[in-house]
Amino acid sequence: MDIKGIMEKMTLQDKARAVAGVGFWWTPAYPELEVPPIQVSDGPHGVRKMYDIPAEKRMGTITSVCFPAACASACSFDPELLEEMGHALGLECQAEDIAVLLGPAVNIKRSPLCGRNFEYVSEDPYVAGKLASALIRGVQAEGVGTSIKHFAANNQEYERMFCSSEVDERTLREIYLPAFETAVKEADPWTFMCSYNRINGTYSSENPWLLTKVLRDEWGYDGLVMSDWGAVADRVAGIAAGLDLEMPGSNGVNEAGICKAVEEGRLSEAALDQAVENVLRLVEKALDQKKEVTVDWEKDHEKALAIARECIVLLKNEEKVLPLSGDEKVALIGGFAERPRYQGGGSSHIESFKVVSSLSVAERYGTFTYNRGFSEAKDEIDEELQREALAAAEEADKIVVFAGLPDVFESEAYDREHMQLPACQNLLIEKLTKLGKPVIVVLHNGSPVELPWADKVDAIVEAYLGGEAIGEAVMDVLYGRVNPSGKLAESFPIKLQDNPSYLNFPGMDHKVRYAEGVFVGYRYYDTKQMEVRFPFGHGLSYTEFRYGNLRVSRKSFTAAEGVTVSVDVTNVGDRAGKETVQLYVADRTGSAIRPVHELKGFCKLALEPGETKTAQFVLDERAFAWYDVKRGDWYAANGSYIIEVGRSSRQIEYTTEVHIIGSKKLPLPIGRDTQLGEILQDPATREYILEQMKPYFDRLVPNDSESMEMVEAIVRFMPLQATRSFYEVTNEQIDEIVADLRKLVEEAEQK
Ligand code: BGC
Repeated sequence: MDIKGIMEKMTLQDKARAVAGVGFWWTPAYPELEVPPIQVSDGPHGVRKMYDIPAEKRMGTITSVCFPAACASACSFDPELLEEMGHALGLECQAEDIAVLLGPAVNIKRSPLCGRNFEYVSEDPYVAGKLASALIRGVQAEGVGTSIKHFAANNQEYERMFCSSEVDERTLREIYLPAFETAVKEADPWTFMCSYNRINGTYSSENPWLLTKVLRDEWGYDGLVMSDWGAVADRVAGIAAGLDLEMPGSNGVNEAGICKAVEEGRLSEAALDQAVENVLRLVEKALDQKKEVTVDWEKDHEKALAIARECIVLLKNEEKVLPLSGDEKVALIGGFAERPRYQGGGSSHIESFKVVSSLSVAERYGTFTYNRGFSEAKDEIDEELQREALAAAEEADKIVVFAGLPDVFESEAYDREHMQLPACQNLLIEKLTKLGKPVIVVLHNGSPVELPWADKVDAIVEAYLGGEAIGEAVMDVLYGRVNPSGKLAESFPIKLQDNPSYLNFPGMDHKVRYAEGVFVGYRYYDTKQMEVRFPFGHGLSYTEFRYGNLRVSRKSFTAAEGVTVSVDVTNVGDRAGKETVQLYVADRTGSAIRPVHELKGFCKLALEPGETKTAQFVLDERAFAWYDVKRGDWYAANGSYIIEVGRSSRQIEYTTEVHIIGSKKLPLPIGRDTQLGEILQDPATREYILEQMKPYFDRLVPNDSESMEMVEAIVRFMPLQATRSFYEVTNEQIDEIVADLRKLVEEAEQK
């Protein structure tokens, strides 16, 4: 496509029309310029292609394979698996003439109540970034684009189209932006989708800091940014800020506004041109990579099954009650056995190719009875259903309850009101635990639930919303045909009130304050040493793994050098299994208030019985750094860090101390308000300030070395300008000192 030539032929009106969608899913067409339209579709875990055939008066959604939602697929901790899922989705898109799949969605799970958590990957930005990048690479390798969403700080559904997320910059940089940043650097998504909400008062769709400064200038992104559907408030401001494509368009309203703004000089034509060029480049890319594909939907269903098996998390397994042997009489109880909840509501909802329930395949596994016990669709106690279930359970050797959240509890567009399972389910589970038989609970939910009976049941299997094949995958795990290997990509607090966002969710006066800052999920629970129901990263196996021989490539290194960490893991049990080894870094330098540790690496190993493999992690400067707003950069201070390797955030097997020496030198910004402590700390400025302030310091305490320590402690938090009140110094003299200090800092920097 000759983009330059096409743009030269475009009138202002043509250009204004080029930056808005047509219908719900198309980019505009210019037959006279030989620019065809391309189609986008949700996303993220299936192809929800919508059709509208007016001539036949038919509209709807095609059927396609519903893969595990991100809440589940994240538990695989397996980038290769996500990449495979991406390939399958990409090929399905090609077959359906879809140029861009709208996903993945990487918003951080700030509160368990967010209605869309099931679509999101994790409470941890590192996990979200790595797994989303893998999915993107898979889809795009098939010549189909992705749209990573929702950029950014869209962590609730309450007032999602208006609410302002009030987040400080450090928290944005460390928690809410890195998954997007990683994706840009490791997978280069064809498109970004900006979020509905405002950030610190400015809509994402017209936020130059977000869409241009951070995304393009700092991260170097050169793809297309589209709006979420209906997220545009001021289209002209949006173009100026870097929003290329409005979706799904405004029925021409904004086109007129764009033309007028350019004519009146309120919007530069260059900004509009850039947006047009980005749209055309996307069309070109899609056309170039279009290929003929036929999908074997049955095979893709099998892929969805294979992926689901890798995602299930065994949360508890007392006395090895699982796996079931196949010889015992098992009472299956709960409507979800018959109608599994396997996906969430809203724009990601797939018209599934076929749904396999656990009940429909149960006879392949052993002897069983089935009783509904409760309605899976609502929170209502049905005495008769309960009685029947209890009677069947009395006759069984083991009881498996299929519990979970009804559809209406979790969906896009609204948040959950509480974190509980329906009372009818909790009640029945409590009654079943009194029968004196092993009770196993399988959970179908998109986000953590309170588990008041957790200590009374023998096993808990978290199936999440595992896609259309989840019923079969669950049976494979229950009966040991598959050894579970999922780990939680989020914490399960004991109760909602424990969650760090509790006091500030979902906000008021159209604002939500992210007052907990960087202390999200385990970063909060672990720092506070709080009890949780199940920690981040937790997940059991039917075999056992032994960790050993933790080693580092060097004990001391410069931030730029980084370090390699290795640990051996041996399968000491009697069946093959997989273990996700996790690496956390704990900053002991005291340079900032930080979480007690943060995940900086994970590695899933497949091990035969007796086999040993090595998990290896390469830690770069960023793995140790925090975002220093004052310096406007990431900063890994000199000093001690503890490297922790373990099975979950709470089960650390080995630790080792390392030191950063010669961290990246970041100039201290100096002004009248710089504190003496900071100036004294910096070797470049220390001697000078000691000399300048000598009469004052001497007056505080006589100058022997021990009391000098005390003097430093006393003046540490005193800004330069405050010395006026304690030491005869004029404003002019302070300014001279400031100028000298700046010079010293500059000289040190140049060395
Ligand atoms: C959702 C997006 C989705 C879009 C198109 C919006 O309401 O927030 O995630 O891709 O609709 O369906």
